[in-house]
Amino acid sequence: MGKLFICDHPLIQHKLTYIRDENTKTKDFRDLVDEVATLMAYEITRDIPLEHVQVKTPVTTADCRIISGRMLGLIPILRAGLGMVDGILKLIPAAKVGHVGLYRDPDTLQPVEYYVKLPTDVLERELIVIDPMLATGGSANMAIEVLKRRGCTQMKLMCLIAAPEGIKAVQQEHPDVDIYVAAVDDYLNDHGYIVPGLGDAGDRLFGTK
Ligand code: URA
Repeated sequence: MGKLFICDHPLIQHKLTYIRDENTKTKDFRDLVDEVATLMAYEITRDIPLEHVQVKTPVTTADCRIISGRMLGLIPILRAGLGMVDGILKLIPAAKVGHVGLYRDPDTLQPVEYYVKLPTDVLERELIVIDPMLATGGSANMAIEVLKRRGCTQMKLMCLIAAPEGIKAVQQEHPDVDIYVAAVDDYLNDHGYIVPGLGDAGDRLFGTK
């Protein structure tokens, strides 16, 4: 089963509190999500491999380490996932960004892909699938499925807030994918909102409500 990592650094939790607050306005909400994404990027990259290199300092030759292994790819699920991309790129500027757009079929209520654009070298990259809210897990599962169908094999899922239902769904369907969240909330309400949550992440990021 995929592991669940809760990024409970005090700075992340502090900022998440203001993100949740209904009185936080669009600009501050966006800035805070961006900052938390940067801090979470630090946690999610904790296990990337290093290789030894020698560097000549002005004094002597030093045994040092640099990042090795696969390059990273960020895959925001449209549209709320976009809100976390710039924050991650601040720490990982060489990452390429692909996009997955999904909509919910009104009859089946299942997510359906309407837009997929991936970096040409996506198969050589380790991917971070990004969606601030892991609610039912339907969108995350479908986005991961979309990537796997195209041959991608290494990915992690990054969310701000998850419902237990969404974590279970992803762990069941994609046991090879580790999940990184800032918080696990109580449950999903009848409208599909995470409780206590933060409301609609897309609307709050883009000021559409
Ligand atoms: N998507 C959101 O934006 N918020 C929720 O609470 C659940 C899904």
